[in-house]
Amino acid sequence: MLLNTKDILLTAQKEQYGVAAFNVYSLETLQAVIRVAEAENHPVIIALGERYFDMVDVEGFAALTKVLAGKSTVPIALHLDHAYQKESIIRAIDCGFTSVMYDGSKYDLEKNISYTKEIVKIAHMAGVSVEAEIGSVARGAFSDEEDGDGTLTDPQDAKKFVEETGVDFLAAAIGTVHGMYTGEPNINLALLEEIQQSVSIPLVLHGGSGTPEHVMKQAVEKGICKVNVNTEVSMATTSYLKQVLKEEETMHLSDVMAGMQQAIEPVIAKFIQVLKK
Ligand code: 13P
Repeated sequence: MLLNTKDILLTAQKEQYGVAAFNVYSLETLQAVIRVAEAENHPVIIALGERYFDMVDVEGFAALTKVLAGKSTVPIALHLDHAYQKESIIRAIDCGFTSVMYDGSKYDLEKNISYTKEIVKIAHMAGVSVEAEIGSVARGAFSDEEDGDGTLTDPQDAKKFVEETGVDFLAAAIGTVHGMYTGEPNINLALLEEIQQSVSIPLVLHGGSGTPEHVMKQAVEKGICKVNVNTEVSMATTSYLKQVLKEEETMHLSDVMAGMQQAIEPVIAKFIQVLKK
């Protein structure tokens, strides 16, 4: 069933588990995520980044996701990830996304508050929930996200931001990176605890890929309700493709697509299992 992302996350917050938000960009990734979520009997969030709008037909993708979610045995939400343009947010709302992320993290606090507030007003009128980010998540290896400067979230800024904007969930920068870590991860769980004490809404951890499992579990105990994942799914797919096409040059495309889904499923299962209670 398709549910509002906020409802899924408020339940997760109450029951102290995490929900993974997987970036998907194809029928294969979408089907694999839903299939594994059903096998694990755990809610899941389907996320599409604004940067994929040129490649994916947004209205078609939303319609397909809604049909698959309607047939599904687990709660599913449809989320717009990292959007920088108001037009993209309105487009996603118009075609039935259940939440949107406005990323104003590159602006100073006051500007970020003012732009986010406007998005919250538009989205809430349509019953769509809103995620925003303060502080900034840096980019590691193999990611295609925009690079942030890695500024950690200030708990007092977080409090002010949430009070003034009315966002429904907040991405907190605590040292995770988008993509794979190039050195030892340095994730500040003490800071996360301070942020959790400053705000009452569900918190979001960006940069799930490569983040140690015990850190994700501790992060859930300290208020993280949503963990975003992209790079590890992409890497599992491309390494499967490299290997299979080297071994079997004449393979039929339908078999390649089926193999891709199988290659992704263990990655998806790993995240869901770690975030489950
Ligand atoms: P990873 O690519 O590190 O999994 O991060 C994804 C993400 O945070 C998308 O918003």
